[in-house]
Amino acid sequence: MASRTPLMAGNWKMNLDHLQATQLVQKLDWTLKDAEHDYGAVEVAILPPFTDLRTVQTLVEGDKLSLVYGAQDLSPKDEGAYTGDISGAFLAKLGCTYVTIGHSERREGHGETDELLNEKIQAAYRHGLTPILCCGEALEIRKEGRQVDHVLGQIEADLAGIPVEQVRTIVIAYEPIWAIGTGEVATPEDAQEVCGAIRGKLAELYDEATAAGIRILYGGSVKSSNVSEIMGKPDVDGALVGGASLKADEFAKICGFETA
Ligand code: 13P
Repeated sequence: MASRTPLMAGNWKMNLDHLQATQLVQKLDWTLKDAEHDYGAVEVAILPPFTDLRTVQTLVEGDKLSLVYGAQDLSPKDEGAYTGDISGAFLAKLGCTYVTIGHSERREGHGETDELLNEKIQAAYRHGLTPILCCGEALEIRKEGRQVDHVLGQIEADLAGIPVEQVRTIVIAYEPIWAIGTGEVATPEDAQEVCGAIRGKLAELYDEATAAGIRILYGGSVKSSNVSEIMGKPDVDGALVGGASLKADEFAKICGFETA
């Protein structure tokens, strides 16, 4: 079985300006240092708003912090007359490691289609960014028991034509929409069912070794009190954390889930 380094990624969404970002990054760094966090054992990433990224870069590079960071979205284009969009080239210049693609808040709120997300994945790879590709079903789909088919359909469409050399580094985040920001956490079995099926799909689309190396995260109301149980499942390799990543103490506890 491939060893996959767990990833705990904090999606700040549209929260915290660049001054508040400084405070949170510093507090998170101290808290993790106090807890003697082993970044080699559990990778820690933050995904702040675009306007915070330069500040985060300065802190991380200036103080040689071990956490990594990324953006919450990118343009499928590289440059030009695309008002309001942000190029992957700019994110790469800011030292971003990751970029979230296809969060349900963009699929639903901004009408982002699988075709567009496929272009965004290609754009991320053109600029050396690692996509965190999000997928997940709405409540009606789960009620009908179609969550696995729905999510696998998203994965297949979003990854169409992405070559194996690139997909090896991708991170996939399974986030059931009904569990996001609701306090309604999927059971560890619910998370495993879909994360395991995603890995099976990756093996079918690529090969077993590739599928075994890809990290699959769970997201949706993850907290320090429920993270260990979810992380106990064989196909869950980390968490994409919203609300709980805005508090340094709580997010640090999530990052130290093995000792929680
Ligand atoms: P919450 O952790 O606030 O439920 O958000 C999950 C999420 O959408 C992370 O991307």
